[in-house]
Amino acid sequence: MMRPFAPAVVVCLTLFVALPAAAEERESCGTCHPASRVDFEGSIHAREEVTCSDCHGGDPRTLDVDEAHRGKFRSWKDRLTTPLLCAECHSDLERMRAYNLPGDQLAVYQTSQHGRSNAAGDRRAAVCTDCHGGHGILAPGDPASSVHPRNIQETCAACHADPDLTAAYDLDSSVVDDYRNSVHGRALLDEGNAAAPDCTSCHGVHGAAPPGFGDVDKVCGFCHAQTRRAFREGPHYQAMLAADLPECASCHSNHAISQFEADALSGICLECHGEDSTQAQLGRVFQTSISAAAAELDRAAELVQQGERRALDVEDYLARLEGARTALTEAPPASHAVLREPVEELTRRARSIGEEVQRELYAKLNRRPAHIGLAFFWFYLLTAIAILWVYRRQLERER
Ligand code: HEC
Ligand code: HEC
Ligand code: HEC
Ligand code: HEC
Ligand code: HEC
Ligand code: HEC
Ligand code: HEC
Ligand code: HEC
Ligand code: HEC
Repeated sequence: MMRPFAPAVVVCLTLFVALPAAAEERESCGTCHPASRVDFEGSIHAREEVTCSDCHGGDPRTLDVDEAHRGKFRSWKDRLTTPLLCAECHSDLERMRAYNLPGDQLAVYQTSQHGRSNAAGDRRAAVCTDCHGGHGILAPGDPASSVHPRNIQETCAACHADPDLTAAYDLDSSVVDDYRNSVHGRALLDEGNAAAPDCTSCHGVHGAAPPGFGDVDKVCGFCHAQTRRAFREGPHYQAMLAADLPECASCHSNHAISQFEADALSGICLECHGEDSTQAQLGRVFQTSISAAAAELDRAAELVQQGERRALDVEDYLARLEGARTALTEAPPASHAVLREPVEELTRRARSIGEEVQRELYAKLNRRPAHIGLAFFWFYLLTAIAILWVYRRQLERER
């Protein structure tokens, strides 16, 4: 009779003994350090069965203060050694393989200015926990993570917007504000455009160092490939390297990047070339050919709208204007080669399509008055006939 219950009794007994033991292992530290425990509980580490003593050592099974901190206890209060703690697991390629995580964070960090200063004994340079937190570490894709693309600028700001710290290292304290107000910062932070760069898109995730001369175009070209290609094909690339100018950043700045209006184009050239130079003249050619083509397309679009209002079939014109606009949007990237032909070729194509569309639409729109004339003609003719008919009826009746 009792036989079927025996295994259940064994299971219950095992659970009775094992569960509190497992809980105790996690909780004895947490009992005396509730704040750390609460911080830690929501982290990715807690979810993946990393425990307090994996990082701190000590004995997690006792509630005796001395015993709990005995053994290989490590407090990690010295920031200098933090990277070595994280690397115990994160540089262990075998351990990280199951998570499909790269194991290169420490190696890359050591190449950064942060890592080099840390190795030289500087406690103010960023260590792993400055960016990730210590106990409440979350995966970067979690919107609440301090390293999520939308939050990372805030994390860097803790040091890079601190006037005392930046002054001590002769760094610019406005980099974060400049970035936030830039076309990139606004696109990412205000408009939620995930394609726009955060600090680490240009500085590397763990390798924070300013891109050196010869590297800026690569960093920007990661997203602006067409512009970079043109820039490398023209004379500016070599000229700027030779003159120690930071390529793209010498015209766009590094953080305060804004949208250039086409009518500011020739002004940029004057920052480095003389008013009467051939280079400044080329800038003016770019500016006029781009804005002339844009104006032509605007006029054509205006006529297409008129055509639409008068129920003309404008499908074909819309498609042609679309093609012209594409050619025109290729002109600013192409202008980065500072060569005359590619820009003139693109703007000429756009302009001539615009002119063609205008010519054809004008002809069609101006034919409309002929129809209206015809309508008037029939109206008068029919009214005349009607009047004559009424007049005749009257005459007949009088007769
Ligand atoms: C019985 C309570 C108790 C238990 C259990 C306990 N601690 Fe502590 N812990 C303390 C006290 C008290 C201090 C000293 C606090 C202070 O100096 O501010 C301390 C200090 C620490 C510190 C900071 C050390 C420093 O130098 O400031 C760390 C880290 C720590 N404990 C981790 C742990 C870990 C990990 C466990 C589990 C293995 C654990 N503690 C278990 C009570 C406890
Ligand atoms: C991933 C490694 C890691 C784990 C896991 C971890 N800690 Fe820590 N802990 C640290 C580091 C690093 C510090 C040093 C301070 C800092 O940078 O946040 C620290 C500091 C502390 C301190 C000192 C006071 C403080 O908050 O600064 C206490 C106490 C502590 N940990 C307790 C715990 C307890 C309890 C657990 C488990 C619930 C735990 N830690 C889990 C890495 C860890
Ligand atoms: C005891 C081993 C261990 C230690 C020490 C450790 N980690 Fe982890 N860490 C892990 C494991 C396991 C994961 C889970 C990986 C996963 O789920 O992707 C993880 C995940 C992470 C993640 C999320 C990765 C992702 O993209 O999902 C970050 C960030 C992280 N750890 C940072 C740190 C930092 C910073 C330290 C040092 C304060 C540290 N870890 C110390 C084992 C450890
Ligand atoms: C200057 C800030 C900063 C420092 C310092 C830093 N990290 Fe990161 N870390 C990041 C950012 C930002 C990401 C998110 C990258 C992304 O969006 O995928 C990240 C991602 C990670 C990940 C997830 C996997 C990966 O490689 O993308 C791990 C693990 C990690 N860091 C561990 C570390 C360790 C270990 C250290 C110290 C050796 C460290 N981090 C130092 C900013 C930092
Ligand atoms: C805990 C403070 C701290 C945090 C957080 C921090 N940094 Fe730094 N960073 C420093 C310090 C200090 C230096 C100067 C080190 C030196 O020159 O010795 C530095 C240097 C740099 C440099 C090199 C500057 C140069 O001209 O050599 C870059 C680039 C940089 N940080 C980018 C970042 C980015 C991007 C983030 C955020 C993902 C970040 N930092 C977060 C403290 C921090
Ligand atoms: C669009 C790319 C880009 C983004 C985004 C970006 N940077 Fe930079 N940053 C650069 C370039 C390029 C340089 C070096 C330019 C030069 O040599 O003139 C630089 C230089 C720096 C320097 C060194 C400045 C100095 O005073 O010497 C720091 C620090 C820095 N960036 C931090 C940050 C932080 C923090 C963020 C995010 C708030 C950020 N950057 C976002 C491209 C970028
Ligand atoms: C991670 C991708 C990425 C990187 C890296 C990047 N950008 Fe951008 N950039 C964008 C996106 C996306 C936009 C469009 C933002 C918007 O208008 O909504 C943009 C916009 C711009 C604009 C304004 C474009 C316009 O329509 O007038 C300029 C200028 C610019 N970036 C220059 C640079 C320079 C210079 C660098 C390097 C220092 C750089 N970008 C690095 C993604 C990037
Ligand atoms: C000689 C100065 C100069 C240099 C160097 C330069 N740019 Fe530009 N950039 C401009 C000007 C001027 C405009 C406005 C162009 C226009 O309207 O024709 C512009 C426009 C842009 C745009 C917006 C184009 C669009 O499609 O509307 C991007 C993106 C851009 N530049 C990125 C870069 C990148 C990336 C580099 C480096 C590979 C770079 N620039 C180098 C002057 C420069
Ligand atoms: C940040 C400085 C800077 C700006 C801004 C700048 N250039 Fe240059 N440019 C140079 C340097 C340096 C050289 C090489 C020395 C020289 O020829 O003056 C050069 C050379 C040239 C050359 C090759 C000259 C030759 O004879 O081979 C052309 C063409 C040129 N620039 C056109 C332009 C145009 C067009 C603009 C405006 C859109 C412009 N540049 C804006 C720095 C600049």
